Amino acid sequence: MKVGLLTGGGDCPGLNPVIRGVVRSIHNAGGQSIGFINGWKGILTGNTMPLTIENTDDIVSKGGTILGSSRTNPYKEKDRDVPKLLETYKNLGLDALVAIGGDDTLGVASKLYTDYKLNTVGCPKTIDNDLSCTDVTFGFDTAINIAVEATERVRTTVESHRRIGVVETMGRHAGWIACEVAMAVGADYVLLPEVPVNVDDMCALLKKRREAGKQWGIVIVSEGAKLIGGSKTVTQSAKIDAFGHEQLGGIGEQVAKLIEEKTGIETREVVLGHIQRGGSPTAFDRILGTRLGLGAGRLVQEKKFGRMVALAGTKIIDVAIADAVGQMKTVSQDWLDDVYAFSK
Ligand code: F6P
Repeated sequence: MKVGLLTGGGDCPGLNPVIRGVVRSIHNAGGQSIGFINGWKGILTGNTMPLTIENTDDIVSKGGTILGSSRTNPYKEKDRDVPKLLETYKNLGLDALVAIGGDDTLGVASKLYTDYKLNTVGCPKTIDNDLSCTDVTFGFDTAINIAVEATERVRTTVESHRRIGVVETMGRHAGWIACEVAMAVGADYVLLPEVPVNVDDMCALLKKRREAGKQWGIVIVSEGAKLIGGSKTVTQSAKIDAFGHEQLGGIGEQVAKLIEEKTGIETREVVLGHIQRGGSPTAFDRILGTRLGLGAGRLVQEKKFGRMVALAGTKIIDVAIADAVGQMKTVSQDWLDDVYAFSK
């Protein structure tokens, strides 16, 4: 049994534990693993590295991905690139391909299974936690813990200077990171893509708190948040990736300016950016990544192709990749009710 692995999309803490888990599972079953370098780009160009117990055993705590990643989309130039991909798969004598990634990477794995009956297995990853059919994605726990730590550092300085600190988090069009960080730090206000914010209402609340004696404030803003009557989604540049995504970022600066203008309170913003994706995974993400990797290896052995490993409660289950992709999991109403209970 020969199995190919690739990691696609934005890197994410926990990718290496998944790779280690898949390699271990395939090795224990007497098989062999091979890694494609830089996501789908590696399979288009035939750029590979051997994956062995020796070179994967010590990567459980390592951030990023030893395979490298990219946002290459073989379906962008389908007629040119998909045949190349199929040829590499055939020439290497692969029995299966494990694609570890978010909606975009898994979307390609799903189409390859449907269109060409390629033996794909998916493993969900993203710090944004916006994938359907799994309770949580690995990487999310690390991202929120980093963001909480960073926000608490911002807090001590805004507290000393009697300022308001606006912290911008990642998450694209789902507000999970901002929502959970706001809850964990006890933020005064949170701006999420799911609920366009009335800036006047937010500022009135911040002013009321100041007048009541609270000498500092923390506002968490998700990069995809929208303001009522204000801008549409704020984009950092005109760059669009191969999957059609715009580069978000910069709303924190706008929000900080508006708060300062409307409340008269000195306000500063901090953009956490890639710090949220960097560094060593938390124990939770190492364990989840390892279990998902072992689970993906089992799906290969059981020939359950077109399927994706997922977390349901405490169990690793499998679902059709097609059911998980194309429908973003945004912050649900129960979470919104709970987080906004503290912004009244
Ligand atoms: O999907 C993960 C993510 O970190 C998003 O939260 C963010 O919008 C995007 O990737 C940033 O991508 P890049 O690394 O290309 O700037």
